[in-house]
Amino acid sequence: MPGIVIVGTQWGDEAKGKVTDFLAKDADCVVRYNGGANAGHTVVVDGKTYKFHLIPSGVLRGKKVYIGNGVVVDPDVLVDELENLKREGFNPNLRISDRAHVVFNFHKIEDGLQERLKGNLRAGTTKRGIGPAYSDKTARFGIRIADLLNKEILKSKLDLLVSFKQKVICQVYGENIRLDKNEILEKALQFGQYISDLVCDVSAEINDALDRGETVIFEGAQGTLLDIDHGLYPYGTSSSTIAGGACIGVGVGPKRIDKVIGVMKAYISRVGTGPVPTELKDKVGDRIREVGKEYGTTTGRPRRVGWLDLVPVKYSIRINSIDELIVTKLDVLSGINPLKICIKYKCEGRTFDTVPADIRLFEKCEPVYEEIEGWPANVDWRRIVKEGYDALPKQAKEYLQIIEEHVKVPISIISVGPDRRETIVREKPQR
Ligand code: IMP
Repeated sequence: MPGIVIVGTQWGDEAKGKVTDFLAKDADCVVRYNGGANAGHTVVVDGKTYKFHLIPSGVLRGKKVYIGNGVVVDPDVLVDELENLKREGFNPNLRISDRAHVVFNFHKIEDGLQERLKGNLRAGTTKRGIGPAYSDKTARFGIRIADLLNKEILKSKLDLLVSFKQKVICQVYGENIRLDKNEILEKALQFGQYISDLVCDVSAEINDALDRGETVIFEGAQGTLLDIDHGLYPYGTSSSTIAGGACIGVGVGPKRIDKVIGVMKAYISRVGTGPVPTELKDKVGDRIREVGKEYGTTTGRPRRVGWLDLVPVKYSIRINSIDELIVTKLDVLSGINPLKICIKYKCEGRTFDTVPADIRLFEKCEPVYEEIEGWPANVDWRRIVKEGYDALPKQAKEYLQIIEEHVKVPISIISVGPDRRETIVREKPQR
C-alpha cells in the first residue's frame, strides 16, 4: 500500500499525530499536506510527550519527513521545532517544498483584527495567521519558500506586500501598528539561509519514492469539518484538510493514493466557534474534557466536547473515500454510563443524516441518539493491549460495532491511550 492518506473525520484533534507516528513504523516517509502552525500533533513515546505544529509526526521514527506545498510555514515555529528536536538528540531528516507559502507576523496581526471585525461570524481561529496567509496565496500576493532564497525577488515582493498590509492595518482597522520592512526582509532572508539545504521539489521526491514502491504517508492536519470547501464554512480553517488535499498539497495525482484512513475520536471535540449538535455542557462533558485532556495543543483553549456524532463521520467517509477507520481515545469514555451515539439529526420536522451546507439549518439540528451501556471505569488497558481486540470489555466492542453498522466502514485500529504502545490493531477488520 504505497500511498496512504491519514485524514481527520471530525473537527480536528482526532489524535492524527499519534496515529501517523504509529503507522510511520512501516512507512518510508511522511509528508504533511495542509495547514500550518495552527495544528498541534502530539506524540507520546515511552511516556515522553512531543508536540509538533509543522514537522510531520514520523520524524521521531527517523523517517524522511516532508512539508508539502499545501502547508503555510511559520519560520519561528519551524526553527523552534527543529532546534528542540536536535536538543533531544534527534537528527530530523526534513525537506520543505519550494512552493510552500510563508506566514509572517503581519499575517498573525491581521488574523486577530479580522476575527475582531467578524464578531459572531468569527471562527475562533488559533491566531497563527493561517487565514491571511492562505488569502494572500490565492490572491497571488504570497511569498513562497523559493522566494526566500533570492534576495531581489524577495525584496520586491515584500515591498509590495508590506506596504499593502500597512495600509490595511492602519486604514481599514484603524490600528497604529508599524511594520518595519527592513526587519521583515532581514528575518525572512535569515530563515531562507537556515533552511536553504532543506528546500526541494517535494512533489518530485514523493513521486520518485512512490515509483520505487516506497510507502508514503500523507499526513493531514485539522479535520474534514474544518475544510475550506467541505467544512462548516465560515467556521473552519483556510486549507484543504480532506484526502483530496493530499494531491493538491503535495503534487501527486489522485491515482497515487492507494488507501485513505480516517481518524475519529470516540467522542467529539471542537475548538472554536460554530454549531456542535452533540455538545455536552454538563458534568459528563467536564469529565470527558478532563480525562481526555481536551485543551488545545496550540492555544491551550478548553475544547468543547460532546457525544460521538456519526453524521460528520459518514459525511467524511463520503468526501474522503475512507477505506478504514481508526478510533482513538476510547479509554476516555470508561466509567460513563449510559453512553450515547448520535446517528442522525431531527430538524424542522424532518430527519436527515448528512452535514448541511446551510449553517443556520445545522444550528437547528437536534441529535437522535442510540443509547448503550458503558463499560466500567477500572479497565486494565495494559492487559487488553497485550491480549488484543477480543479482550476489550463487551460494551466497548458493542460501541465499536454500532459505529461500524452505521458508517459501513471497518475499524482497523483502536487507540486506548496517548502512548505509541497503547494501540490495538485488529487482526481482521470486518467489512
Ligand atoms: P485557523 O485555522 O487558525 O484559521 O482557525 C480556524 C478554525 O479552525 C478555528 O475554529 C480553529 O479553532 C480551528 N482549528 C484550526 N486548527 C485546528 C486544529 O489543529 N485542531 C482543531 N481545530 C483547529
